[in-house]
Amino acid sequence: MTRVLDTIADIRAAVAAERLAGRTVALTPTMGALHEGHLTHVRHAASVADTRVVSIFVNPTQFGPNEDLDAYPRTFDADLAALEAEGVDLVFAPSVAEMYPTGPTATVVTAGEVGTRFEGASRPGHFDGMLTVVAKLLSIVRPDVATFGQKDAQQLFLVRRMAADLDLGARIEAVPTVREADGLALSSRNRYLSAEQRTEALALWRTLEAVASAASEGPDVALAAGREVLAAHPAVVADYLALVDPVDFAPVAADYRGEVTALIAARVGTTRLIDNLPLTLG
Ligand code: PAJ
Repeated sequence: MTRVLDTIADIRAAVAAERLAGRTVALTPTMGALHEGHLTHVRHAASVADTRVVSIFVNPTQFGPNEDLDAYPRTFDADLAALEAEGVDLVFAPSVAEMYPTGPTATVVTAGEVGTRFEGASRPGHFDGMLTVVAKLLSIVRPDVATFGQKDAQQLFLVRRMAADLDLGARIEAVPTVREADGLALSSRNRYLSAEQRTEALALWRTLEAVASAASEGPDVALAAGREVLAAHPAVVADYLALVDPVDFAPVAADYRGEVTALIAARVGTTRLIDNLPLTLG
């Protein structure tokens, strides 16, 4: 049976009981509006821990003043039904007042320089808010393992670094990106797309595929191949297309060869979408 808990004291007590019984614990943090991507996390969690906890919390401090906090999809009943069907043990669904009783925390985890690049450049403060709530969730649940999606590559990088820097104790596991049959990465924000925009949105994946197919020729040729695809889709307004070194999340130099992550962010209408693809250059 899936138990839903909405206070920090209750989830701590429930997790403590699991530990007392000798069970290991996995946490999957989410903002709800669950789709197959999220459900892949809880299935992965089942293979690495005995007890599965999913948090559902739309964290206000990671949204900018002009972002979609109020409009962010909230589908709690459907989310709970999906988690029950997966056999998830505990759902932690706190209110904003429970997580931030005196408003946004005075103490903030800062993402540093990496937090100002890419997603951080167009969403100032986003990663500080994200890291701070993830630090809170890890400290509340104290899981053995926490799952994060490759879909949000910069988030994954920053969470891993925070967990290592602050010795948070949880093993951070990456879950590969779940896609629609045609390649579009699943996202809670896909539901904002009209049918026409949904078709256009595929250009993000097509761009990454083009970058991958030219990867053997180095960064400049690979990026040019991607830009060519974008140029053919004027309805898709790119924010960035870049190749970063997975070790430090910095853009690679023209003579770089080896592992990279190709990153893309673009607006389709008013909906901002991101995607990425790990690949090898040269
Ligand atoms: P949310 O966008 O709900 O995503 C929850 C988790 O699901 C994240 O780790 C994200 O990377 C992963 N995810 C999203 N789309 C995916 C897909 N198509 N395939 C696989 N995994 C996918 O990311 C957040 O929430 C928040 O920032 C959070 C970490 C919960 C902190 O508030």
